[in-house]
Amino acid sequence: MASSSSSSAPHHHPHLDRIRSQVAVHARRFQDTLTSRIARYVCGIVLTVLLVSGIIFFILWLALRPHRPRFHLSSFSLSALNPNSPISFSVLDRNPNHNIGIFYDAIDASIFFMDREVGSIPALSPPFYQPANNTTEFRGAIPGNGASGGEGSPGAGSQAPDRVTGFRVELKSWIRFKVTTFDTQRHKMHVSCDAGVGADGQLLPEFRRRCSIYFF
Ligand SMILES: *[C@@H]1O[C@H](CO)[C@@H](O)[C@H](O)[C@H]1NC(C)=O
Ligand SMILES: *[C@@H]1O[C@H](CO)[C@@H](O)[C@H](O)[C@H]1NC(C)=O
Repeated sequence: MASSSSSSAPHHHPHLDRIRSQVAVHARRFQDTLTSRIARYVCGIVLTVLLVSGIIFFILWLALRPHRPRFHLSSFSLSALNPNSPISFSVLDRNPNHNIGIFYDAIDASIFFMDREVGSIPALSPPFYQPANNTTEFRGAIPGNGASGGEGSPGAGSQAPDRVTGFRVELKSWIRFKVTTFDTQRHKMHVSCDAGVGADGQLLPEFRRRCSIYFF
């Protein structure tokens, strides 16, 4: 008799109903705080993992990012102190990376005097692969245009000059770094080296500096 009264009693006792609903509210509240605590915990883990992997990637990128090659003129000589005379030159190309090789397409060279092209060499170098920490030299020569003196030639008609400056050697190619994880796209490379010769027709020391290099 007692058990049957207790099973039917809650439906008829507003007091017990209130307690029940309060218990339900408390249970839901506890559930909510538990859920939000777990959510916060998971969020924290995800953010920590993201932060740590971001830092690792940044350090790897700093350590592995490719450095551009460095060019400089190692020689540039004029057979006569006249910009139209034959010119020969050599360029040193250094890959400063310790573990990244560079693929080059053919390198085209042009020589300018006072912004006027005096000669060009369509494939100064064929396509090649430059290993890491390697220096490669390219040599080129142009015949000159045979004119002695003439327009743009300094010192024409007066005494011989003791130097001729205003030359520029330009190299154009496409390069690609040999990195397997990222940056395998090709870059259009443009190198520009200023040049001037002294009375002996040889490159002046002040032009033995690093050439400018641009990418597009
Ligand atoms: C890079 O090459 C130069 C000579 O070309 C050599 O002296 C140097 O030890 C090399 N460095 C590395 C890290 O291989
Ligand atoms: C640079 O690489 C080229 C081609 O692999 C090689 O012939 C040359 O000896 C290397 N130069 C140096 C200094 O390692």
